[in-house]
Amino acid sequence: MCGIVAYIGSREAYPIILKGLKRLEYRGYDSSGVALLNSGLKVYKKKGKVADLEETLIGKDMHANVGIGHTRWATHGEPSDCNAHPHMSQNGKLAMIHNGIIENYAQLKTELIKKGYEFKSDTDTEVLLNFIENILQNNNCPLEEAVRIALKRIVGAYVIVLIDQDNPDTLIAARKGSPLVIGIGKGEHFLASDASPIIEYTKEVVYVNDYEVAIIKSDELILKNLGNERQTPYITKLDMELAAIEKGGYEHFMLKEIFEQPTTIFDCLRGRLDAHAGTITMKGIDEYAEELKNANRIVIVACGTSWHAGLVAEYIFEELCRVNVEVEYASEFRYRNPVINKGDVIIAISQSGETADTLVAIENAKEKGAIILGVVNVVGSSIARTSHGGAYTHAGPEIGVASTKAFTAQLAILVMIALKVGFEKGTIEEKRYRQLLIDLEAIPQKVEVVLKDHEKIKALAEKYMDAPDFLYLGRGYNFPVALEGALKLKEISYIHAEGYPAAEMKHGPIALVDEKLPVVFIATKDVYHQKVLSNMQEIKARKGKVIAVITEGDTHTPTITNDLMIIPETDEILAPMLSVIHLQLLAYYIGIAKGCDVDKPRNLAKSVTVE
Ligand code: F6R
Repeated sequence: MCGIVAYIGSREAYPIILKGLKRLEYRGYDSSGVALLNSGLKVYKKKGKVADLEETLIGKDMHANVGIGHTRWATHGEPSDCNAHPHMSQNGKLAMIHNGIIENYAQLKTELIKKGYEFKSDTDTEVLLNFIENILQNNNCPLEEAVRIALKRIVGAYVIVLIDQDNPDTLIAARKGSPLVIGIGKGEHFLASDASPIIEYTKEVVYVNDYEVAIIKSDELILKNLGNERQTPYITKLDMELAAIEKGGYEHFMLKEIFEQPTTIFDCLRGRLDAHAGTITMKGIDEYAEELKNANRIVIVACGTSWHAGLVAEYIFEELCRVNVEVEYASEFRYRNPVINKGDVIIAISQSGETADTLVAIENAKEKGAIILGVVNVVGSSIARTSHGGAYTHAGPEIGVASTKAFTAQLAILVMIALKVGFEKGTIEEKRYRQLLIDLEAIPQKVEVVLKDHEKIKALAEKYMDAPDFLYLGRGYNFPVALEGALKLKEISYIHAEGYPAAEMKHGPIALVDEKLPVVFIATKDVYHQKVLSNMQEIKARKGKVIAVITEGDTHTPTITNDLMIIPETDEILAPMLSVIHLQLLAYYIGIAKGCDVDKPRNLAKSVTVE
């Protein structure tokens, strides 16, 4: 949430910052702004998307070699020009961008108001900035010292970057809880919330740690902790290509990412799964194989779509590994003082690796002695670094705000972990294990088959786009898929949608059914199939419109349904990786048909770095 970019060097800062903000816009798009330091400090900001800011700046003199930029997802204060970042301190000499939340800002604001400060915005950021300015003035110290003093009093999460009119050759940055990457160029430095704005200039980056303050000049990067002790910057090489963060001919990132899934699942399995040899190799999991095998309980923590992947995994782990699994919303788990016993393994699932609730949930569990395994997409992200071990999903950058390819890659990893543990524990028969390896290896190619139906799904979307509500139903492995289908539809098209276990429908939601309600059944071939057909009949009897995802070769279900989406045959454990593709496409095409901004749905942001 909120994207930050900064540059210091000999190039023009503005084009680098502007391009960077466009790449980070998935993190928030309520407003954006830049501050440039040339002969003086200039701040430009605007409500709306980065393109709106860009338009207002056409023709202006934007020359500067130092600058900071921000794209906002509003927390404190409505989206508006004055709440947009960067903010300027009261004396006009400092400008600052911030990603995070300062929880004790109200108290600090009261103190500053008593000292004569006046505030132009409703933001917590302006409060922190003036707090720093006040310390600077009272202590007559360097800015980095004032920042350190201020941050020791801050409760909350932040990445901040400041520029100072009196020290135009230095940027000061600090982080706690929100991400900050620094790109190391030749005589220049690039700062950003993730690597996407940096990648075309340098592949050498430093991930700043919590409670570190960075003092950045064109040719020097110093990291210190809040105790003013020097820290050694650890330089990492980025393993990412520019093409991965561009649309590559697709109209939207979401569509590109849906269509990438044969490749992303393949990349996820590559080098790990060898169906011929009957092996699964995952270094970060292998190291904890014993703990997984002997776990009394596996607790999965995640949010949103990643939580849905966790629910599918619950069914898979219980079946293949005969272990007790609990799936927790990270936001609930972290505040509940949960019971963590010796022998518990926590699996954190996160695309971004920066979701604040998931991060704090695993930090708390780690303190209590649990083993933490991360299933994370973004390499080097906070959740990945906080985990003891785990596996990257290798789905590549996911830029569309709605998660698609990350979900299927998460499922691929989770299935592999379950197969590995189940086989080593002896809770899965060798014949089934080997067959599942073969079936899993075939998934990328089957996803390709599903994607061939996109024109049919588009037609279906146009048929049902005007429905005000949708119900998604499934049982067993298909229940979390129903939840995910409903989530995709509501976030992309703003149509109200609910997901339910198909049998639960009779306990309430059936009251909604009438001739206008489309009910999407995930009704692929599994042990519950007959029961799902009965649920379908119950909807049909009340004149609901039945749309079903079925397995090819099923000749009976089409006699009940109004419309169909078909997946190739596979094991029921793996079917969610296929059926969800149809639901992603359905949401996408309904969103498009309704004229929605599918890559940047209203009120959302991709990386939820505030709780
Ligand atoms: C939905 C979506 C969100 C995320 C959730 C967790 O399409 O994208 O629900 O799944 O915010 O994010 P990560 O996986 O980055 O922790």
